Amino acid sequence: MITLYRLCVLAVCTVLYGVLPSGPQLGVVCGLFGGAVTNLGSPGQKKKWYLPDSEFTGMFAMTERGHGSNVRGILTEACYEPSTQEFIIHTPCEDAQKMYIGNSMKGNYASVFAQLIINGDSHGPHCFIVPIRDRHGVMNPGVTAIDMKHKEGLHGVDNGILIFDNVRIPRTNLLSKFGCVSADGLYSSPVQNKSKRFNAMLAALTPTRLGLTVQAIAAMKLGLIIAVRYSHSRRQFGPKDQQEVKIIEHQTQYLRLMPHLAAALALTFTTRFAACTMDHALCKGEVLQNNSSLQALVAGLKAYSTWENLACLQECRECTGGMGFMMENRIPALKCDSDVFVTFEGDNVVMLQVVVKELMTQFTRQLGNSVVGGLIKTWTSSVSDRVRTSFLGFNVDTVGDMSFLLKAVSYRERVLQRSLATRLYNKVKKKSEEFFDAWNSCLHHVTCLALAHIHRVTLEQFALAVQECPVEEDHTLLTKFCLLHGTSLVYQERAWYLEHHYLTPATSRQIRTQMLELCRLVKDEALKVVSDFNVPSCCIQAPIAGVANPRAEWAFYSAPEHPIRASKCMGAD
Ligand SMILES: Cc1cc2nc3c(=O)[nH]c(=O)nc-3n(C[C@H](O)[C@H](O)[C@H](O)COP(=O)(O)OP(=O)(O)OC[C@H]3O[C@@H](n4cnc5c(N)ncnc54)[C@H](O)[C@@H]3O)c2cc1C
Ligand SMILES: *[C@@H]1O[C@H](CO)[C@@H](O)[C@H](O)[C@H]1NC(C)=O
Ligand SMILES: *[C@@H]1O[C@H](CO)[C@@H](O)[C@H](O)[C@H]1NC(C)=O
Ligand SMILES: *[C@@H]1O[C@H](CO)[C@@H](O)[C@H](O)[C@H]1NC(C)=O
Repeated sequence: MITLYRLCVLAVCTVLYGVLPSGPQLGVVCGLFGGAVTNLGSPGQKKKWYLPDSEFTGMFAMTERGHGSNVRGILTEACYEPSTQEFIIHTPCEDAQKMYIGNSMKGNYASVFAQLIINGDSHGPHCFIVPIRDRHGVMNPGVTAIDMKHKEGLHGVDNGILIFDNVRIPRTNLLSKFGCVSADGLYSSPVQNKSKRFNAMLAALTPTRLGLTVQAIAAMKLGLIIAVRYSHSRRQFGPKDQQEVKIIEHQTQYLRLMPHLAAALALTFTTRFAACTMDHALCKGEVLQNNSSLQALVAGLKAYSTWENLACLQECRECTGGMGFMMENRIPALKCDSDVFVTFEGDNVVMLQVVVKELMTQFTRQLGNSVVGGLIKTWTSSVSDRVRTSFLGFNVDTVGDMSFLLKAVSYRERVLQRSLATRLYNKVKKKSEEFFDAWNSCLHHVTCLALAHIHRVTLEQFALAVQECPVEEDHTLLTKFCLLHGTSLVYQERAWYLEHHYLTPATSRQIRTQMLELCRLVKDEALKVVSDFNVPSCCIQAPIAGVANPRAEWAFYSAPEHPIRASKCMGAD
């Protein structure tokens, strides 16, 4: 199993960038700034701003005070001046100030998103390279950077506000893959449709989103290593006159940890699949923008993995008792550092909507535009689904099968997809509601569908990986975890399955029993799984996981902006 986790071991090391002041602000500098240059720049620009060889560091300035998720609404301006062949980057109002920008107190260049304006006409958001300060830290004229100071976590990176007062940059600093301005001020773009162009630019975020998914999985794995090992060593309570039992023997303890371990495995395999698809496309020289299905998969994975990580770390914290609260045992810092993962690089709720927009597009494409209406209208009475929704064909013996679980999760996705299409169709086409209002009144449905979709994909990828596992012993072990993941997905949604008569009360009870039984069955093997994560002990450093952490205090207190350290320095308290 070892090779499967190489990707994640790397990520464990990058998770550390948030707490170790000696590490560069890898995520922002390479991932975001580098990603913008790589995915939005021309070949010449990529060479010029290629980071590993250079002496400068970058930052990524998209978010503004007034607009976070709604990037299209950003207000920073980039006006072209033909006489000087320069863009003038300007912050016209307070709402246009760039906010939360990582590395803003030290970085040399920023990739700044701004409205491209020529002769008063706006061509929508584009990305510009703007010098912020020179190598000695001297600010570029017209640029102001203000530190945003204390945060919940990620103390290794500074986040700040950037304000531009008519900052002039050369014409060639517009990253020009999707839009280019000639010397005399003529705009051209390979993508004519403005909204498609904007979406193509946002696709530049896909690789870093996948990177964030890998980090969330890595944080989850670290938490699980610590909690599982501690649960197998700590003892509390036991039968009369006998040695106390290990806490992992308590039913609730394994019930709280094992489903997360199964999810961590499922996410690992799915992320590996997404990464392979992306590698493949990049190796063939294809643009990521061309595969909207991959973009949607990554958006969904980002949301699912980062939420799953937070839930998992909270359980790990509670399952390790008071010890889990101690900084030296890592879990508190992991929680603080990864909390914001659900918000940045695309808010999770917004990511789920990206998933569903793609699912709806695929659905319409499959059916063909002209027949969509007709098919959707008759869907509710369609024979096959009537049979499916009322046929209680699954008995207590078969709900433990992988094939039942796979069918159940794809059934849920399919029903949610068709019913959403029907609802939207009726609201927009029949009742002529504004699309925004129709969509908004279905938003809960939308997010349920997105999660149902990503859950189905993770279970399928997990099942595929199990099938392909060449080592007999690992195959047997992974099969149990895969069944557990599937059972846990159905168990979570048992109310929905009961509503849709997909489960009977008897099979629903059976799912619960199966869930408990599978968790019990894998609780000891969990030790093997967490050691097969193959995380080097230098990255674990938690005494309760059996790995001492000599630098814990140092790492914690030397973070540059840590509030405790700051107040101590200032003699406060
Ligand atoms: C530590 C940190 C580092 C960051 N680093 C950077 C950086 O380097 N560069 C950069 O450009 N940005 C950075 N950001 C900004 C980050 O990307 C934004 O915070 C994020 O995109 C969310 O925007 P917002 O904060 O304006 O939230 P909002 O968009 O205002 O969201 C607030 C709430 O409204 C909900 N909401 C918004 N729109 C919708 C919708 N359509 N449907 C349903 N619900 C909705 C959200 O789900 C959320 O619950 C960073 C942020 C943090 C906290
Ligand atoms: C641009 O493309 C979108 C779909 O991506 C479409 O809805 C819109 O009508 C197009 N606009 C123009 C002007 O063609
Ligand atoms: C991407 O798709 C567009 C049209 O869908 C096509 O014209 C273009 O050649 C594709 N680009 C690559 C690099 O695959
Ligand atoms: C696009 O991505 C999907 C994954 O979402 C993958 O299955 C498919 O093979 C990719 N298509 C191409 C042409 O690479």
